[in-house]
Amino acid sequence: SKNISSEGDKVMEELIQTLPQEKDWVGSTLYQYQGFWYSLVPAKAVISFQNHFKAHDTDIFLITAPKSGTTWLKALIFSIVNRKQFPHTQSPLLATSPHDLVPIIEFSIYSKNQTLDLGNGNFPSPRIFATHTPYGTLPSSILKSNCRIVYLCRNPLDQFISDWHFIVNNFPRKEDFKPFSIEEGFDRFCKGIHAFGPFWEHVLGYWKMSLEHPEKVLFLKYEDLKKDITSNLMKLADFLGYPFSEEEIRQGVVEEISKLCSFETLKTVEVNMTGERPDGLKNSAFFRNAKPGRVVGSVIPYENGKNVKDGYNAKIFYRNAV
Ligand code: A3P
Repeated sequence: SKNISSEGDKVMEELIQTLPQEKDWVGSTLYQYQGFWYSLVPAKAVISFQNHFKAHDTDIFLITAPKSGTTWLKALIFSIVNRKQFPHTQSPLLATSPHDLVPIIEFSIYSKNQTLDLGNGNFPSPRIFATHTPYGTLPSSILKSNCRIVYLCRNPLDQFISDWHFIVNNFPRKEDFKPFSIEEGFDRFCKGIHAFGPFWEHVLGYWKMSLEHPEKVLFLKYEDLKKDITSNLMKLADFLGYPFSEEEIRQGVVEEISKLCSFETLKTVEVNMTGERPDGLKNSAFFRNAKPGRVVGSVIPYENGKNVKDGYNAKIFYRNAV
C-alpha cells in the first residue's frame, strides 16, 4: 500500500477544518460531513472511501450504525461465504477476531491510507467489507456496480445503551471535559449528535434503498436474528448468492454456523477475550451482554417535553440501562 501524498493530506486537513464541529460523549471532536457526525479518523476515512473506492461486482458490503450487531454479522457472512473452505470445526473464527476477517472501512481500510491496494492478492474475491458509512455518502461505484449490501439495524434504545457503554468505558475522557450524564448523552443522541448519527437518517437511507432495490440491499434487524437465526441465515445466504443446499440443510450446516457465530461461542474465543485492535481497543469491548429489547413492554410514553422522534423519552433507560 502507498501512503497518501503530503499534498493530499494537507487538502484533507483543510477540508476537515471547514466542517461544523461538536463534542462526543467523552469530549472528542465530532465533524459533520454530508449531514452525519464523525470523529476525526472515520471522518477522513469516509471521505477517502468516497473519493477512491472502486467496487467489484462480487463485493459484499455489510453496513450498520455502530453497535447494531456488526461483529455478529461479520462472523455470519464470513462463515456463509467460506463454509466450503473451512468446515465449522476449523473456522478461522475460532482463532481470529471477526474484525480481522472482515475489515471495516473507517477504522482499518482507510484509517491511514487513501490508496491501499485492495486487489485480489490482499483481498480474494468476494471481498467482504464492513462500513458505517451512510447511504448518501457511499462511493458512486458501489451504487453503479452489482455488489451487494447487507444492512443490519437494531432497536435504537438498545443501540444507544450499547454505544453509551462502548464509548464511555473504552475511550478516555478528554481532560477538563465535564462528563455527560446518560440523560445528556441521550438528549444528544436524539438530536443526532453522536458518531455516525443521526440514527434515523442512517437507518432510513438504507431502508428506502432496500425497498427500491431489493436485489441490491438486504435489510435485516438484530432482534429478528435473535428471534429466528435459522431462517434469517438462509435468507442471507440466498441473497448473497451462496444458498444452502438441501443436503447442507439436512446435515445441519445452518445450525452449525448459527452456533459458531453465537454470542456465547464468540465471546469465549480466546482472542476475543484477550486480544486488542491495533489502536489498543480491547476485542472484549465488542461482547458486552447482547440482550435485545430490554425496553419492550416497559416503554413510558413521551413526556417532559423531550423531543424524541419516536415519542419515547429518556426515562425508559433508567430501568434497565445495563
Ligand atoms: P450490547 O452492548 O448490547 O451487549 P457491534 O458489533 O456493531 O459493535 O455491536 C456490539 C453489540 O452486539 C453488543 O451489544 C454486543 O454484545 C453484541 N454482540 C456481539 N457479538 C454478538 C453475537 N455474536 N451475537 C449477538 N450479539 C452480539
